Amino acid sequence: MQVSLHVNGRPVTWETTLSQTLADALREHGCTSVKCGCEQGTCGMCTVWLDGKPVLSCSLLLCRLSGREVTTVEGVEPQARVLASYLVAEGGDQCGFCAPGYIMTILAMEKEVSAPVSEETVQAYLAGNLCRCTGYRSKLRAAVKYLNRSQNGTV
Ligand code: FES
Ligand code: FES
Repeated sequence: MQVSLHVNGRPVTWETTLSQTLADALREHGCTSVKCGCEQGTCGMCTVWLDGKPVLSCSLLLCRLSGREVTTVEGVEPQARVLASYLVAEGGDQCGFCAPGYIMTILAMEKEVSAPVSEETVQAYLAGNLCRCTGYRSKLRAAVKYLNRSQNGTV
């Protein structure tokens, strides 16, 4: 079967099956920023946007996404690069496997909240994004500094 949707602003028509996940389809078609950890909807590694909202792409079937708009890190590269520089500066990027999911969640949060953003708010928003390396504090510092950069005069 075929499904037509938009991926990173481009219309695409992809062959799929009734059981192919969005995560697998994205990787198959070159969006290799999308990472799969648990493949059970619990780790957040596979986070992308569906119609602008963060979703777990391992838990969605591509065949049900006709006409929808999917965005991955490849589609928001300029913003992702800026945020990545904050993660690196705070030591929040070690193996990097969780970074694409974190980036898509934090960039989604940026669209929803206004600075100043508290650490508690960021922590709650990022609760679904797991990281086995960093212990979370460095990622949290980076996210708070990134989201509050307009207040700190760094934009
Ligand atoms: S791989 Fe999708 S939530 Fe873990
Ligand atoms: S930096 Fe390794 S899983 Fe997060």
